[in-house]
Amino acid sequence: MQTAEQIKTVVREKYSEIALQDKGCNEASCCGVGTPGTYTIMADSYTDLEGYNPDADLGLGCGLPTQFAQIQAGDTVLDLGAGAGNDAFIARAETGATGKVIGVDFTPTMIRRARENAEKLNFHNVEFRQGDIEDLPVSDNSVDVVVSNCVLNLVPDKPKVFNEIMRVLRPGGHFSISDIVLVGDLPDALRNAAEMYAGCVSGAIQKAEYLDIIRRTGFENLSVQKQKPILIPDEILREYLSEDELQAFIASKTGIFSVTAYAEKPGGDPAQKAVRGEKRKVEMRNLAAEAGKACCAPGSGCC
Ligand SMILES: C[S@@+](CC[C@H](N)C(=O)[O-])C[C@H]1O[C@@H](n2cnc3c(N)ncnc32)[C@H](O)[C@@H]1O
Repeated sequence: MQTAEQIKTVVREKYSEIALQDKGCNEASCCGVGTPGTYTIMADSYTDLEGYNPDADLGLGCGLPTQFAQIQAGDTVLDLGAGAGNDAFIARAETGATGKVIGVDFTPTMIRRARENAEKLNFHNVEFRQGDIEDLPVSDNSVDVVVSNCVLNLVPDKPKVFNEIMRVLRPGGHFSISDIVLVGDLPDALRNAAEMYAGCVSGAIQKAEYLDIIRRTGFENLSVQKQKPILIPDEILREYLSEDELQAFIASKTGIFSVTAYAEKPGGDPAQKAVRGEKRKVEMRNLAAEAGKACCAPGSGCC
């Protein structure tokens, strides 16, 4: 059993290597361990988003946290585990020149790459700080919005990270976090297969526990804005499971999911919170309608 420090050392070493690779080597998985060109599990595409910078996109995310972050011009946004800055630059397009974006990452090569990107873009209000998100180098009550993409699953002490988010957010501030969670117990063989295939699985916890940590930290108006299954192809599963085990797994509804969770720190302006609440409802209705269209179009064969 590895200690928390040992886990962090392994994670840092892995992302030091990944920071030197390009997107093509990483995009087969949310964590940069997949086989390039074989399967792409990150269905959310960034390329059409305002602020997208290909040099910052290492193909490491598992969602689109900024989509639900309701960032306003002038906001201060904090990106946890910012990598080369992919979400930070999307956030910068929304805060504009009057806001500020802070990215935190504990891998020095990632920070270097992110800073080079900010410099090339001539952004003076996007800052990358080296640090551990369990102990954020950010002052109390100073941030409007926290975003994060596929990072907390890698962190040994998740309650500590949510306590830190609570500390740095201003009263009434909120977060939008995309992450990997599990539903049900994956058989050990499958867990290993999933880690080989998708990465980001070994440190992932149960969805119910994840949401419980957020509630217990004291956040309110928690909602899962989006959830998508990480599908491991049957031919990979068959390498690890017998036919009976495979059928039992399929029937069990056990699985690995990417979720994007939203919640708010208590306090702040109730009117602003009500406006955000209405927007969240609209976003969720639109997503449900899109999903319905994609899946249930006559002749699509998937309903
Ligand atoms: C899967 S990558 C995601 C990077 C980025 N969010 C993106 O979507 O491109 C995870 C990142 O989290 C960073 N990370 C992992 N654990 C961390 C910790 N405890 N504190 C700070 N950064 C961490 C890694 O260095 C890596 O850059």
